[in-house]
Amino acid sequence: MLQICPVRRLNSDFSEFCYNNPVLNPDNAIEIRGLKKSFKKTVVLKGLDLEVKRGTMLALLGPNGAGKTTTVRILSTLIPPDEGEARVLGFDVVREARRVREVIGLTGQYAAVDEYLTGRENLEMMGRLYHLSREASRRRSSELLGQFDLGEVADRAAKTYSGGLRRRLDLALSLMAKPPVLFLDEPTAGLDPRSRLTMWEIIEKLMDEGSTILLTTQHLEEADKLADRIAVLDRGKIIAAGTADELKAKVGTERIEVIIDRGSNFKKAAEIITGEGKQMDEKERSLSVSTDGSVLEIKKILDGIYSAGIDIESMSVHKPTLDDVFMRLTGREAEEGTET
Ligand SMILES: Nc1ncnc2c1ncn2[C@@H]1O[C@H](COP(=O)(O)OP(=O)(O)OP(=O)(O)O)[C@@H](O)[C@H]1O
Ligand SMILES: [Mg+2]
Repeated sequence: MLQICPVRRLNSDFSEFCYNNPVLNPDNAIEIRGLKKSFKKTVVLKGLDLEVKRGTMLALLGPNGAGKTTTVRILSTLIPPDEGEARVLGFDVVREARRVREVIGLTGQYAAVDEYLTGRENLEMMGRLYHLSREASRRRSSELLGQFDLGEVADRAAKTYSGGLRRRLDLALSLMAKPPVLFLDEPTAGLDPRSRLTMWEIIEKLMDEGSTILLTTQHLEEADKLADRIAVLDRGKIIAAGTADELKAKVGTERIEVIIDRGSNFKKAAEIITGEGKQMDEKERSLSVSTDGSVLEIKKILDGIYSAGIDIESMSVHKPTLDDVFMRLTGREAEEGTET
């Protein structure tokens, strides 16, 4: 079946292009169907289905070894899938790998920065790799150095950069050719809180420019802050997908944890505290449940304990973590994935 797609404007540098593809929904920039991948006896992806609409960000959330980087590597044509299909802007990652590489930018978990070149030289070299003229390459490098707040360190060798600066340079490198689709593989892993915030701001700006982004992360907070939709990856399968609100409706917006005083009866406290996603650890004397985050609900829980004559050593309220998500969705903690 031949289907004529409307001409779509991607961005100025990619001008207009058209694709004929009966499989792809033209609204999707990334489409994955039944993707499987194993490394020898290690089964990593077990039939992955995923869609990312144009101009939106999907966060692929999962613990170490869940298969995030493997998914990104398949989408960016670095490794082939064993089974299934993946398309980027309608191009098949196996049969049309060259076309896919023309429309994507990749910031890996392991940065592609040349240590011995300065930030500016790294960028200009990347420009040459993309066959930009010397002048265009210089212009784009300066633009990116400004945009990523790297102006001051632009002429220092990259080996003198901090982790945060290096990440920013790596992201800038992947944007040299203004790709309409970006893969950001754990772009904030290992960054301190301030560098993480700077990176978030940069990513938000990219979203404003209309890029389609697939971001991987181990942090629910990051996915919540940045992404339009979140897909939770567990041992090579998507176990939940939706907006951050839909996901939070499942896991609760906040979690209250109380540590029961040594002089009080823990078992009795455990009977009194009930609610969604209850977790307890008798050794640590910790009890926790999901709440809607309201003061009233927290007060109700505390009143219940005190009125039974039980003392609380400490109390904390925290946002749900990846572990909370996994506990609610699978009944177990997030654990390093894959089976052999
Ligand atoms: N080239 C390879 N050869 C053998 N095993 C591999 C290879 N690449 C990945 N794996 C295994 O596949 C599994 C998934 O790895 P992957 O890197 O996709 O996980 P991830 O979700 O990105 O984890 P992390 O959060 O640690 O980056 C892991 O068990 C890993 O050891
Ligand atoms: Mg990874």
